[in-house]
Amino acid sequence: MAAPYNAKISGTGMYVPDKILNNFDLEKIVDTSDEWIRTRTGMFERHIASENEAASDLAYNAAVLALENANLKAKNIDMIIVGSISGDHPFPSTACILQSKFGIKNFPAFDISAGCTGWIYAANIAKQYIENGAAENILVIGVEILSKITNWKDRNTCVLFGDGAGATIISRADYSDISRFIDAEISADGSSYDLLIQEAGGSRMPASRQSVKDNLHTVYMEGNKIFKLAVRSMYSACDTVLKRNHLDAKSIDWLITHQANLRIIESLGKKLHIDENKVIVNIEKYGNTSAATIPIALDEALRNGKIRRGDLVLMASFGAGLTSGSLLIRA
Ligand code: ACO
Repeated sequence: MAAPYNAKISGTGMYVPDKILNNFDLEKIVDTSDEWIRTRTGMFERHIASENEAASDLAYNAAVLALENANLKAKNIDMIIVGSISGDHPFPSTACILQSKFGIKNFPAFDISAGCTGWIYAANIAKQYIENGAAENILVIGVEILSKITNWKDRNTCVLFGDGAGATIISRADYSDISRFIDAEISADGSSYDLLIQEAGGSRMPASRQSVKDNLHTVYMEGNKIFKLAVRSMYSACDTVLKRNHLDAKSIDWLITHQANLRIIESLGKKLHIDENKVIVNIEKYGNTSAATIPIALDEALRNGKIRRGDLVLMASFGAGLTSGSLLIRA
């Protein structure tokens, strides 16, 4: 049965902190090289939050721009969903803190923990609420400050992550509107949950002197094991929505994937038979901003005119959990 309403992205915004850390800076911190980082990941620089910046600060700045872009006021928002694994506090949710920053209340506000797939998960949930008529304008954000939970002595992870926020307003579309969500798919394979994990700080291993000493409050990742799973799971999520909508990859105008590694992005593009000129890449500027990579890339591509109204845009991500998902829209 068709949903009573259509959802669309009515506004986008992004924010990254001022401080930039490039590969040469990292050479001074750990045993690495610009050459290794560039060839293995495609990254060159990333933005790092200051000591007094938290996730809600980045998210707020991005959200202000998204509201402006959508021509809406904060009072028009009727739900906030934040995808993040590095919120201001373990609780309450960063979404509730954002509500307070905007001075609005009395509607649902919650966070989604799906690692780098956080924004895709959140956008999919927003889609349901818009399509069934329960909400009209939902603020959906992917935000991350992984630099604060990074082990800066571990070269396997510390060169990869950057901080940032991407905000989107997901709104009810008019029937005549060309812009709309077409389909989405989210999934998870919990059998590999331990490949990417912040081990301490929860009920399994509460914070202790020992957990801090052993660096167990930082990101642990078995990157090479995740690599193949990443391509496979994003391919499967994309293939599912394309087949379900009787589309082939040739009809896709733009592919935006999670920016974790240029080699993963290129492998997915090739596997889907999408021309490399249609694949949006900004990993060299921001590194892996986890849940923020896709909304940041989407905002940039819309503002610089690469993505135009009516273009068919396929997005895909994967991350801690291991989670994965895709989203197909007409911009
Ligand atoms: N500088 C120099 N050498 C390094 C560095 C570094 N920064 N990091 C690792 N190496 C070394 C390793 O020690 C290893 O050396 P050895 O052969 O002597 O043991 C060698 O480089 C190869 O290591 P691999 O881990 O096999 O390198 P790989 O080519 O797989 O690249 C990477 C590593 C970049 C992490 C890659 O596997 C990757 O991108 N994986 C996916 C990560 C990901 O997408 N995670 C999920 C999203 S993140 C989220 O949800 C928060």
